[in-house]
Amino acid sequence: MGDTVTTRPVTVPDFLSARSRGQRLAMITAYDYSMARLLDAAGVDAILVGDSLGMVIQGHKTSLPVTLEDIVYHTRCVVRGTQRALVVADLPFMTYQVSIEQAITNAGRLVQEAGAACVKLEGGERMADRIAGIVRADIPVMAHIGLTPQSVHRLGGFRVQRQEEALMNDAIAVEQAGAFAVVLECIPSEIAARITQRLSIPTIGIGAGPSCDGQVLVCHDLLGLYAELRPRFVKHYAELGGAVRDAVAAYCQEVRDGEFPTAQHSFQ
Ligand code: KIV
Repeated sequence: MGDTVTTRPVTVPDFLSARSRGQRLAMITAYDYSMARLLDAAGVDAILVGDSLGMVIQGHKTSLPVTLEDIVYHTRCVVRGTQRALVVADLPFMTYQVSIEQAITNAGRLVQEAGAACVKLEGGERMADRIAGIVRADIPVMAHIGLTPQSVHRLGGFRVQRQEEALMNDAIAVEQAGAFAVVLECIPSEIAARITQRLSIPTIGIGAGPSCDGQVLVCHDLLGLYAELRPRFVKHYAELGGAVRDAVAAYCQEVRDGEFPTAQHSFQ
């Protein structure tokens, strides 16, 4: 991790000790084998099979339609392409909200059937009993507080969350429930810094400023592959959307002009 990238697989204890080793954690989402291989080879610490796939893969407006079967399928693809990174699978909407038993059963499927090393779920204090139940079943849980996209209708949209007392209570509750890390989404940098200081588990920020112990971004955002939403917290490290369009347009033109295939791409 960090500047001492190990070749052995990244583990949950590596996450827990990252701060004491002075190492920041880099997590990115992926949903398929080829992208997982690329991210893994690039040295990412964790790959999140996020329910953001509802937007960037399935074309929905929110993550709410994503099912457990979707996450099982995509996690299997990602696990096949991953040798080193920790694979974290998201529990989608309505797969843990109903009861502790439901949460444990579905988290178990993501580990047993899909091959994830751990699961992520959204919610603070109100989900603490689900986190504790899953952890008791020996499945590590990454929590997710702040802007929790599965609560989009209660929150009234995808907005920055600024209620420091409630955020702090959520952060403390998920740590006490046994989460090994917590994603802080869309909260002011100063609040994220105070939460990070207060917790002993690592905080992974997305739109939460530079003081978190790690960062996470949606792969399609980072690579410029998803044009519909361009949140301010995203840095585009590449503009692959334009590159893909140009490459495909060149292919179409060459096919229409009879320039592809040439002898080089044919069997004699
Ligand atoms: O689903 C997802 O991709 C996420 C990240 C944005 C943290 O939850």
